[in-house]
Amino acid sequence: MSVKFNGKYLKGFVSQAEFDNVYPQVELCHNILHAKSGAGNDFLGWLDLPFSYDKEEFARIKKAAEKIRSDSDVLLVIGIGGSYLGARAAIEYLGSMQYNDLSGLKVYFVGNNISPDYLNNILKLCEGKRLSVNVISKSGTTTESALAFRVFKKLMEERYGKKEAAKRIYATTDKARGTLKNLSDREGYETFVVPDDVGGRFSVLTAVGLLPIAAAGFDIDKLMAGAQNACKEYEVLSPDNDCYKYAAARNILLRKGKAIELMACYDADWTLMNEWYKQLFGESEGKDQKGLFPASVIYSTDLHSMGQFVQDGSRTMFETVIDIKAPKQDFFLEEDPENADGLNFLANQNMSIVNANAMKGTILAHNDGGVPNIVIELDGKDETTLGHAIYFFEKACAISGYMLGVNPFNQPGVEDYKRNMFALMGKPGYEAQREELLKKLGE
Ligand code: PA5
Repeated sequence: MSVKFNGKYLKGFVSQAEFDNVYPQVELCHNILHAKSGAGNDFLGWLDLPFSYDKEEFARIKKAAEKIRSDSDVLLVIGIGGSYLGARAAIEYLGSMQYNDLSGLKVYFVGNNISPDYLNNILKLCEGKRLSVNVISKSGTTTESALAFRVFKKLMEERYGKKEAAKRIYATTDKARGTLKNLSDREGYETFVVPDDVGGRFSVLTAVGLLPIAAAGFDIDKLMAGAQNACKEYEVLSPDNDCYKYAAARNILLRKGKAIELMACYDADWTLMNEWYKQLFGESEGKDQKGLFPASVIYSTDLHSMGQFVQDGSRTMFETVIDIKAPKQDFFLEEDPENADGLNFLANQNMSIVNANAMKGTILAHNDGGVPNIVIELDGKDETTLGHAIYFFEKACAISGYMLGVNPFNQPGVEDYKRNMFALMGKPGYEAQREELLKKLGE
């Protein structure tokens, strides 16, 4: 098993009886999910995806990734939200936060914000480099990514001419309709599919995540194999199902007034996985005025900034600690004959042992401070374990959302800001809202 729920540090906060008491609800949610009879059941494509994925497309993804690696210095990945976070999270977790400094092919993510400085800096990084583009958008009309694609389409066509540019632009979008699909067919871009029944935040194991991850040089066969292991392991309905234990624990803690889940990891390469987790759970559960607020920290870094609050601030949170059992590369700490800093007691061992002790000490201190800790143990830092972990969190999110009584697969709340932004920017059809908003702004 490569991903494990460890409930040891819930002792004194959640009893076995409480797990037993919510288990019938877990059973019900499992049955609804697998019978595809619950809310949002049109968006359950991710559930069997590790086995049912399109094998022909998978082979094309690997081929396109090879081509990108052979003819490009830079891959620009254009997308936002579910069309962005999973790919970046996987690349930076597997390849490190310094991935672009250490790798041959650089992967730059654009279209995930509207900052002109960010865009200008990426454009500078592209000067004199051989480029490929993967534009990812289910709808094709998302403002951030569509704006960025305008810029890079023009750049590619100016640099390579229309014909060669078309060979270097890959579009991941709806299989049959939408602005981006139509444009891709017209221009002759190779296209990959965002399946109809997989929502953005559940899409990392589709072409949305797989093409950038494969292009970055990671083994997507192993990633899918890990997800397959998880899919088989967690379809077993049992109180020992680790994925369901995690979902149940979150739910129990929420009902005890712990309104914030703080995901904590002692490896900075997990930083973007934290962001992916926040979208997955935040967008799935935060609705109908309900849900845990997903937050995150990287320790020990954030112990020096957020540690005080976690230890001693308002008692509104629990922590979910990601315990990565082995780093990719350890570092042996040598003795310093001068020992001016008095740190020789840490010498003659691997740094991972110091990190593990920082983790254990912090968990116990936070427990003493009244913070329940869930620990999710990951065997290693590799594609197989990551694929397993991705599926673990996706399924836990679905069960957890059903236990909360929401539709975990829609996102009605994300439209409101868009409506206001379009109105303020003068989009045709939004004239009345614009007047109203300008009055509110006093302009
Ligand atoms: O999860 C979601 O649905 C969102 O985060 C979308 O993925 C995001 O808004 C991008 O949408 P699109 O792929 O249509 O450009």
